[in-house]
Amino acid sequence: MGAYIVEEIERDFYILRVNDRYTRYFEALWEIPEGITYNAYLLRTPEGAVLFDGWKKIFSEKLVELLESLVSRDELRYIVVNHMEPDHSGSLDDVARWAPRARVLGHPMAAKMLGAYPEAKKRFKPVRDGEELRIGGEVIRFIHTPWLHWPETMVSWVESRGILVSCDVFGGFGVPYAVYDDECVRPLEALREMKKYVVTVIGHYRQWIAKNLAKLESLGVKPRIIAPAHGLAWRSRPERVVQIYRELGEARPIRGKVLIVYASMYGTTEYLIASLTRRLSRSGYHPVVYGFTDTTRPPISEVLTDAIDSEAIVLAAPTYEAGIFPFLRFVAEEICWKASDGKKAVVVSSYGWGSVAAKQLKSILEGCNYSVVKVVEYNAIGPEAISPGEAERIASEVLEALSG
Ligand code: FEO
Repeated sequence: MGAYIVEEIERDFYILRVNDRYTRYFEALWEIPEGITYNAYLLRTPEGAVLFDGWKKIFSEKLVELLESLVSRDELRYIVVNHMEPDHSGSLDDVARWAPRARVLGHPMAAKMLGAYPEAKKRFKPVRDGEELRIGGEVIRFIHTPWLHWPETMVSWVESRGILVSCDVFGGFGVPYAVYDDECVRPLEALREMKKYVVTVIGHYRQWIAKNLAKLESLGVKPRIIAPAHGLAWRSRPERVVQIYRELGEARPIRGKVLIVYASMYGTTEYLIASLTRRLSRSGYHPVVYGFTDTTRPPISEVLTDAIDSEAIVLAAPTYEAGIFPFLRFVAEEICWKASDGKKAVVVSSYGWGSVAAKQLKSILEGCNYSVVKVVEYNAIGPEAISPGEAERIASEVLEALSG
């Protein structure tokens, strides 16, 4: 079910990583055929060891076994819970039971969330924002980073080493072969996986990215190594990763990128979108197209990933049961919930016996600050319901609206 990596990142600082290829829908929502890793970290000192975060419950037996190969149960003095979501905290009680002397450290709010972990709850000690732990010559500062991903989330700044144990922050999906970014043969892929994690998991709280990054900066946190709880550890140019993360928080658009998402039950909308895509490409735009049809169904996690940095979006959906075609309704609502930022939008909709989808899509998008610059509606059913000339005319109008 999982493969495990234990590696000494540098003297007495270890990564314990499990590659989870079993989970297909993260949070039971987001398609991740590429899998995900959970990374815990262990710091050994002459006065005892500190474990940062853990793994999902199904892997906890293995985590304990691996810990046992590195430290004795009495040597583990602290278990730090940077974040209570069970992809990191699931192993908490198994580890706590194994290490009878360990205190459990976390955000004060975590205390209320420890119901499922009675052993950890007994030994829980809340840490204040900025509180310092000194152990065996190491200095660890706990910094609260609310809403990245939950309100109780914090990061552990191992000041004595310049290592930021950042939990969800800077984390990405995927199971890279490498542990570090500078060993990764597909660094761009890893950055896209980070983007996908940000949008799908943290996207709704995006505005907290800038606030928390500013807070870390003001506290003088300039990491040499960023050690997140998912995906790669970043050590080649950590400042670049911080900058990319900031841009994601701002939903900074890539010039000319247009996300087109359409649903086409019988081919009419698909035909129209093909014309529009050609037209946009010829005019210097970079359309990224996802279609829900009777032969294709793209992962919505990928659609959202491309929404965050698009300059504009085009949503095209037929009316279905007096509403929006269901997948497109979900896409529109999730774009609003996680990736909206006052950009331009175009709504396209076909209908047979009643027109509803266009109105509803427009209302969803305007409700989250999109500027709907064009609505195209046509009464047509079937693959040849729109003539080439008509498709070209509509494509021109959309292009004009986007360029205006
Ligand atoms: Fe990776 Fe919010 O959990």
